[in-house]
Amino acid sequence: MEDKSLVVIGLGYVGLPLAYEAQMSGLQVTGLDVNGEIVESLNKGWSHIDDISSEQVGEMRHAGFVAATDPAVIQNAATVVICVPTPLAPGGGPDLTHVEQAAKDVAQNLQPGHLVILESTTYPGTTEEVMIPALQTPGLQAGTDFYVAFSPERIDPGNSSFGIRNTPKVVGGVNEDSTERAANFYKKIIDEVIPARGVREAELAKLIENTYRHVNIALMNELVRFCHELDIDLWDAIRCAATKPFGYEAFFPGPGVGGHCIPIDPNYLSHRVKTHLGQPFRFIELAQEINDSMPTYVARRAQEMLNHVGKAAKGANVLLLGVTYKADIADKRESPADDVALALENLGANLSYHDPYVAQWLVKGQTYQSQESVKKAADSSDLIILLQAHRDYIEVDQWPSEVPILDTRGVLTSPSALSL
Ligand SMILES: NC(=O)c1ccc[n+]([C@@H]2O[C@H](COP(=O)([O-])OP(=O)(O)OC[C@H]3O[C@@H](n4cnc5c(N)ncnc54)[C@H](O)[C@@H]3O)[C@@H](O)[C@H]2O)c1
Repeated sequence: MEDKSLVVIGLGYVGLPLAYEAQMSGLQVTGLDVNGEIVESLNKGWSHIDDISSEQVGEMRHAGFVAATDPAVIQNAATVVICVPTPLAPGGGPDLTHVEQAAKDVAQNLQPGHLVILESTTYPGTTEEVMIPALQTPGLQAGTDFYVAFSPERIDPGNSSFGIRNTPKVVGGVNEDSTERAANFYKKIIDEVIPARGVREAELAKLIENTYRHVNIALMNELVRFCHELDIDLWDAIRCAATKPFGYEAFFPGPGVGGHCIPIDPNYLSHRVKTHLGQPFRFIELAQEINDSMPTYVARRAQEMLNHVGKAAKGANVLLLGVTYKADIADKRESPADDVALALENLGANLSYHDPYVAQWLVKGQTYQSQESVKKAADSSDLIILLQAHRDYIEVDQWPSEVPILDTRGVLTSPSALSL
């Protein structure tokens, strides 16, 4: 078995950048995905995610990367890394069906000496309680005949400073041998590898990171409402607080939280605490409640601003700017823009939107097309709501002075803009 062979299962936002970095570090990578269209397009040299360009897919193809749908490719790999989705089930708890399926595919092709690593974000205990039973194969014992570890994925889509190689990687195995082998594997691709005491510590590390952001954003989202009532500029107060060189990290309010890490992952932790200890994880639940209420708050502030200029929300032309969950990327997953749009529709507003990264936007069965010219669309609106701080919007020199702007990101300097 060729030592440098790797199969990455799940070629999305997490798996594809890992496959790229591994292939370009000299490993022989096969990408495995259940989605035949993604596999076909990658084999043609086309990328489907923001952080990897088609040019980079071309480079990795040239270096030997292939994508496949047949799990039999696992048999020829020394290492298998699982990067499949971990969404929420309809009741709000963890949905581990993709992880279970991927583990079963590995089990059917498991060979002595295999190293299997789970990267998907999940609750502490998943590797031991879900992965290992699914991987069990007659005659092969986890930790001695094959090796199992968890390594939290730390991808930050759109981050041009930190990628796979220069972001330290935490690794925890089900035993010492597994930790050591997983650490040695990642050292081939990543500058710094941090061994955890065990697999649960590695699993929890990721959820601490996400929950920390979730709770601190919620703190600012609650504070922003009080500051509005008390006539205090919260953004300026944060700017001042952030000058403290130690003991403080700045978080900002906004129209709600999006992406995968913040709205979804902390639920995995609170669900685990509730089902195993019978207790609520109060910080997470409170943060969820506050962050989830932000789209309605934005709609209420929009209504107030229209009222101020003698207009009703019903029938008003409201232009939304930026509908992705993060600035300067095309990812709309869990974006709070959808809930803002629904809240404004419920008030009877006529909505339009502009986003340089999203040509078409589907909100609960209604399709919107992005306005071609932001300037023209702005001129004919009664209210503009900046939902995402795309660079294009910050660089606009002049917004129409007679159209009020609700700036939910606190980035515009125009006199007609009012921060959240
Ligand atoms: N996207 C992020 O920014 C981010 C950041 C941190 C952690 N994560 C975590 O990483 C994991 C993966 O997230 P993602 O954003 O890459 O998801 P994604 O939806 O972009 O990609 C997942 C891929 O896995 C494929 N897949 C699903 N089941 C499969 C199976 N059984 N076998 C083979 N392929 C399968 C899907 O077709 C898809 O292409 C999740 O647990 C997520 O929480 C994501």
